[in-house]
Amino acid sequence: MGDVVRPWWALLPLRLFLGVTFTYAGLSKLWNPGYLDGSSPSSVQQQILALQHQSPIGFLLGWSAHAPTLVGVLIAVGELSVGLATLAGLLVRIAAAGGFALATTFFLTVSWHTHPYFYGSDIVFMAAWTVPLLLGSWGGPSLDAFIARHAAADADPDRRRLVLGAGAVGGMALLTGAAAAVAAAAAHGRRASSAAPGPSSPSPAPTKTHRSQRQQPTQPSGRVIAQAAQVAPGSAVSFTDNSGTPALLVHETSGEFRAFSAVCTHAGCLVGYQSGDFFCPCHGGRYSGLTGAVIAGPPPTPLQQVQVSVSNGEVFLT
Ligand code: FES
Repeated sequence: MGDVVRPWWALLPLRLFLGVTFTYAGLSKLWNPGYLDGSSPSSVQQQILALQHQSPIGFLLGWSAHAPTLVGVLIAVGELSVGLATLAGLLVRIAAAGGFALATTFFLTVSWHTHPYFYGSDIVFMAAWTVPLLLGSWGGPSLDAFIARHAAADADPDRRRLVLGAGAVGGMALLTGAAAAVAAAAAHGRRASSAAPGPSSPSPAPTKTHRSQRQQPTQPSGRVIAQAAQVAPGSAVSFTDNSGTPALLVHETSGEFRAFSAVCTHAGCLVGYQSGDFFCPCHGGRYSGLTGAVIAGPPPTPLQQVQVSVSNGEVFLT
């Protein structure tokens, strides 16, 4: 019996999906203004702090917490490189090994507590990357095939393969760097524009009535986590509780201050605050901004409330 001929286009949907998804994942991290901002709940630093106590590779996260910016950039640029190389069909097995390593890292951290296991996407990505990892080629149009074809036609095929391969890798590195730089510049612009006061920004200054109604006459014991006037009504700021766990302090439009753990009870991702609710970017969990109760998605239990009080214009963790 002869060998079965595999049509190259049979793998095209998987190749496009992995390539586009990893390219998008890398770019979306880099153009997120909060990704490298340690005070943002969506930052890589806060994610590391939240996940290190519940991951089987928590000791690695503990090390990486010392250089969160470097780790964040490496993850984003790694995803971008893997995605672009997959789309171009360059160094297929090496790109697949990178994709498999990234997916495994996310599985052991972000998705480790996802139950049942197939609710988490990272385990599916791990399985998907084994296809190019084992085959070593996508077939069809690719830079690897182009290099092999031109090298075979040369009098010194090894030298030709080396020169063409180095050129392709250099070009891909330039493309990756340019895309990362554009995304980072976009993040910088969005951060600058959101920091500038606009006409729609609610005034953070408390009124005299607000002071007399909301603040306690005696100073409570505990740590100051925010100046009340600096948290606009309807917004939230992040802080860490006494155990180092990320949390969110919410200034309700009613004037009340409440705080909740920012760690999603589903699989440990960090939640954000938007339009009066907490939302989890990992699997679409949603919690009430007033009570922390689950209102949508897979989280099994409410967000844990953190006790705070306000005195003399300062919010205390009590
Ligand atoms: S981690 Fe799954 S919804 Fe939050």
